[in-house]
This record gives sequence, C-alpha cells and structure tokens, in this order.
Amino acid sequence: MSIRNLDDLLAEGVSGRRVLVRADLNVPLDKQTGEITDDGRIRAVLPTLSALVRAGAKVVVCSHLGRPKGAPDPQFSLRPVAGRLGELLGAPVAFAEDTVGDSARSTVEGLADGQVALLENLRFNKGETSKDDTERGAFADQLAAFGDAYVDDAFGAVHRKHASVHDVPARLPHFAGRLVLREVEVLSRLTGSPERPYVVVLGGSKVSDKLAVIEALLPTVDRLLIGGGMCFTFLKAQGHEVGTSLLEKDMVETCGNLMERAPGKIMLPVDVVVADAFAPDAAHDTVPADGIPSHRLGLDIGPETVAGFAAALSQAKTIFWNGPMGVFEMAAFANGTRGVAEAITKADAFSVVGGGDSAAAVRALGLDESSFGHISTGGGASLEYLEGKTLPGIAALEN
Ligand code: 3PG
Ligand code: MG
Repeated sequence: MSIRNLDDLLAEGVSGRRVLVRADLNVPLDKQTGEITDDGRIRAVLPTLSALVRAGAKVVVCSHLGRPKGAPDPQFSLRPVAGRLGELLGAPVAFAEDTVGDSARSTVEGLADGQVALLENLRFNKGETSKDDTERGAFADQLAAFGDAYVDDAFGAVHRKHASVHDVPARLPHFAGRLVLREVEVLSRLTGSPERPYVVVLGGSKVSDKLAVIEALLPTVDRLLIGGGMCFTFLKAQGHEVGTSLLEKDMVETCGNLMERAPGKIMLPVDVVVADAFAPDAAHDTVPADGIPSHRLGLDIGPETVAGFAAALSQAKTIFWNGPMGVFEMAAFANGTRGVAEAITKADAFSVVGGGDSAAAVRALGLDESSFGHISTGGGASLEYLEGKTLPGIAALEN
C-alpha cells in the first residue's frame, strides 16, 4: 500500500501551511436538546489535529453531520461540534457559517499558525454527495482552495464517493491521518490471516444491510453468532414462528441458504426476550426461540443464548462485533448486548468493535473501552472494508 500518512506530511514541515482535514464528526445529537450524546468520533480525530496544531499548521477541518439534503438545515449544523472540539483541544475553534462561501473564506484567511477552524456541514452543498462528476468536482475545487495539503482522517466516510473524500485528494498532496491509518491496520489484520478461532458477532435490525458482509465472512470465520432484530429472519428460516418480531420476509430463503452453505458455523439464539410492545415498560418474558407467542415481539436475546455466545467467544483468538443484540437503549432489553460485550472483553482475543451503534452501546453501557482491542469509528465503512470492497476514500489516497 503506497499511502503517505501524517508523519510524511509532518516531515515535510507544515508550519504556516494550510492543511485541510476531512474528519467524520457525524456524532449523535439529542433530538430534544441538540446536545452531543456521544463524542467518540470527535475524540478519535484529536491525535491528528493536535499533531498538526503542534507543528504550527493552519488547520481547516471539514465534515458532514447527518443527512441534510444539499442545502443549509439548522438541525444539522456543526456549530455544537466546534464548541466540543475546542474544549477537547483546549483552544477555541473558529467556526465558519458556511462551507465554501464568504464566511469560510474569511475564517480560513484569519487563521494564525497552530489555529483550527471548522467549516459548516459539507452536505449543505449539493456538490458534496452528487453523482455527477462535474458537480462534485466543482465543489471539490472550492474546498481544495482552502488547503495546501489534504489529510483524510474520516474513516467513517471512506466508503462514500463524495467530493471531500474522493475528489479533493485528487487536487492536493494527500495523506492518511492517524485514525484512518490505525483503522486500516486493524481491519487488515482481520482480512489477512486472523488468529483462530475467528468469531464474528453480528446484530442490528436488518439482514439486508448485513447480507454482503455475511456472504464475504462466511468462508473465513470459524463461528458467526447472530442476534439483534435480524435474528428473527434466520429463526423464521429455521421454521420457527416469530410473532410480531422484525421480519424481512423476502430474505427468509436467503437466510436458509446461508445456513445450509455453512452447516454448524452460524449460531442463532436459543431463547429470546419477548414483549407486548416496543416500549421500555412493556411486559416481557424470556421464551425458547421456537416458542415465540404470535402476539409478542422479540426485543433481545435471552440468557441461555448469552451463555452460549459467551462460551463460543471465550474460545476465540480474533473477534469482530457489529450491531447490538437487542434494543439496548431500553434497560429491559439491554442484557443481551451487555452480556456479549462483557464476554468479548473477557476473551483472550484480539477484538474489534465496528459500527456507530455498537461503539455507542459500549459507552452507553459503561463498559471500559480499553478492554477492547479496537473500537472502529466506521459502521458501513468497516463492513465494506471486511467485504473486500474498494473504498473510494482509501483508493483516492493510494493514487
Ligand atoms: C456514518 O455515520 O455511518 C458515517 O458518518 C457516514 O454517514 P452516512 O452513512 O450518512 O454516509
Ligand atoms: Mg451510516
């Protein structure tokens, strides 16, 4: 891999130079208060930003937040992120009210050496996500004008063919930031020759989102443990009734085929926590996976399943986990996710947690982040990496 990284840039010297950093500051915000509920992605980019600040660069940070539709939308403003970033860096961060307009221009021009600015949400501009190369390119030209060099540290967005990820690096000397470098190093350990047994735990709500990664992983893993909303489509394929649980009817046959293809590799829940409704205070019970009542829905894996998954994980030497095992945001349905997470921390294995939701679960459940080998900042990005897909953001750095 011929990617130049931040150390190469620092070795060139950046004092007084403008460095445009693409970060993934797409953090979850509280719907009511607009406050940042998990600042993991902001903290993850600090090593790169601090190194540039120390070296005297004029640091211009850009990011997306949420999915605004190509025009300014106050609920997706990065302003609160600028505040938090400043607190974490221990120095104020100048905030531009637009991405490439007058405010951005004067903010960048006003930067002193070692200062940091954050531009407003990239996705307030149509060109960022446009499928049209010319439209994307025109926006990339405007962004690239703010930097003498470009650093990509937005691992969570490297799977997007967006202007700031894919087109800006074609216009500026480009380097991988510390986070992108570390993520790629870790994930390549999983795609290379992982120490065995290699056990993967997948959860989350939809099989259709995970199908490609299941297909890609099935031949390589020793064990694939499936929980979360997606397990019910597998249980249905085993011939069980799933009540009113999440079910992707058009995926049942596919799930059946996957289980046939790798007999004994896929482990499904043997018991589930079912409830009367999708609510934190809904009446609930644990039932066998083949005894889900027709009027109830499964919201978590049961304790016997947790014990079985924990036993498989305790043997593992390499673990990848993506997706919660149940509705962990509701205390009554958090035990499956907590149990699996704890089993991962206890295993004598190299463990990688992928995905915004699983990373947020680790922190929300108060688990010690340092007892995992690596917590990826990328959800879709880490899955697509494991699928072996070409990631536009990484490919752009290689060129
Ligand atoms: C994410 O949260 O998955 C990344 O920030 C990418 O966001 P996106 O899925 O909206 O492109
Ligand atoms: Mg996503």
